[in-house]
Amino acid sequence: MSTRAWFSTFIYHEALSKTGFERFNTELADECRNLRDFDTAGRRWSLKNYPGGYTSYASMNQLHKFSSTFEGLERKLNQHVRRYAGQLDMDLRGRKIFITDLWVNIMPEHTAHSLHLHPLSFISGTYYVATPSGCAGLKFEDPRLSKFMAAPPKTTKARPVNKPHITYPAQAGHVILFESWLRHEVAANRTTAERISISFNYNWS
Ligand code: NI
Repeated sequence: MSTRAWFSTFIYHEALSKTGFERFNTELADECRNLRDFDTAGRRWSLKNYPGGYTSYASMNQLHKFSSTFEGLERKLNQHVRRYAGQLDMDLRGRKIFITDLWVNIMPEHTAHSLHLHPLSFISGTYYVATPSGCAGLKFEDPRLSKFMAAPPKTTKARPVNKPHITYPAQAGHVILFESWLRHEVAANRTTAERISISFNYNWS
C-alpha cells in the first residue's frame, strides 16, 4: 500500500470510570440545576449568548475549586487527559496539567450551541451528566476544511475518516476529549428533557 494517512486528528471517548456512574451523575445533575437557580449573572449571560439554555461558562467557570463533587470529577478527568496526551505522544514528563475552566451546560428543548473552538488551552472536553434518548451529539469539523479549495465532493460511500464531519453521540457517564483547536458544535436539543453536560479546558506548565 503506497498511500498512507498522516497528520491524524485524535478524539478520545471513554467511560469516566469502570464502576457505575448513576449515583455520581444524579449528584452532579442536582448541583448543576442548583447552580442555575443560584447563578443570576450566568442566567443573564445565557439569555443573550445561550438562548433557551443555561451555561456557567462566563460566570461560574472554576467549579472544580468550589465543590467536592466537581473536584471528584476533576481527579478522574486528569487521568483521562494524561492518557489522551500520551496517545498524542505529548511529553508531559515532569510537567503539570491542570484545568483552567470547568463549567456547566444545561440545554432544554431547542437550545443549540453553534460551531466554536476553545482558545487558551491545549486539550478540552465534555463529560455527560444527563443525555435524554435522542438528544444531539457532539459534531466535529475536519480542521482542514478551509484548505480543501477546489476538492470535488466526497462519494456517498466515503469512509468516515474521509468525511468532513463526525458526530459522537452524547452518552451519560462518558467523557470526550479533543485538542482545543478542533471546531465543534451541538445541534438543537429536539427532546423535551434537559441535556446536561460539563465542559472543561486544560493547560500545562
Ligand atoms: Ni465546546
